Amino acid sequence: MAGRRIMLELVSLLVICISQTSHGFTLFSSLNRTLAVDSSATAGQVLKAGEDTITVTWAYKGTDDSSYKTVEIHLCYAPISQKDRGWRRTADNLEKDKTCPLLVVASPYSPSSRNGSFVWLVEEDVPPATYFIRAYALDAGSHRLGYGQTTDDEKATNLFEVVAVTGRHASLAIASACFSAFSVVSFAGLLAAEKIGGKTM
Ligand SMILES: *[C@@H]1O[C@H](CO)[C@@H](O)[C@H](O)[C@H]1NC(C)=O
Ligand SMILES: *[C@@H]1O[C@H](CO)[C@@H](O)[C@H](O)[C@H]1NC(C)=O
Repeated sequence: MAGRRIMLELVSLLVICISQTSHGFTLFSSLNRTLAVDSSATAGQVLKAGEDTITVTWAYKGTDDSSYKTVEIHLCYAPISQKDRGWRRTADNLEKDKTCPLLVVASPYSPSSRNGSFVWLVEEDVPPATYFIRAYALDAGSHRLGYGQTTDDEKATNLFEVVAVTGRHASLAIASACFSAFSVVSFAGLLAAEKIGGKTM
C-alpha cells in the first residue's frame, strides 16, 4: 500500500517536472545563435554612465525565423564582473539566469528587413562593471528561440566597461560650491577688515 502510494506520488512529481520543462522555462543551451550582433563599443572601451551612447545593430543569419516576433537587446555582465557575486550568476535555465538583467530595448521583429539598430544612452544607474551585449529573438508567447551576442561563447572577447561619473560630478560641484562660499566669506572678510582698518586709520 505504502509502496504504491509513494510510487503514485513519484509519478505525479515526474509529470509536474516534465510539464515544467516543456512549458516553464527555456535553457540557454537550447537556443540557436541565429543573430549577428554588433555594437559601437570596442574592446576595452570605457563608457561613462549617463553620458555615452552605444549603437547596437543586429541581423538575422539563420534559416527559419517564421516564429520570431520580438527582438530584445540586453546589457550583460562579463564573467569578471560576476566573480564572487552570486546575484549575477549565469544559469542555463533562463528564468534563473542573472547574466543579462538590464533590458536595453525590445522591438518587433520585421520579417522583411530581418535586422535592426538602436542607439542607447548608457543609463546613469547602470552599475560600473565589464559588459557585453546580447540579443534574444522571442516568439509570440515570449519564449526565447534564438540569440546573438557581441562576444564569443566564452564571453572573453570584445568586452567594454561602464564607469560612473555621477560621484565625480557631485564632488566637483561640492568643491566648487565650497570654493565660491569660501571666496564670498573671504571677500566679505576683506571688506570688513578694510572698513575697520579705514575707521581706525
Ligand atoms: C537592414 O538591411 C537592409 C537590407 O539589407 C539594409 O539596407 C539596412 O541598412 C539594414 N539596416 C540595419 C539597421 O542594419
Ligand atoms: C535550432 O536549429 C535547429 C536546426 O536548424 C532546429 O531544428 C531547432 O528547432 C532550432 N531550435 C530553436 C529553439 O529554434
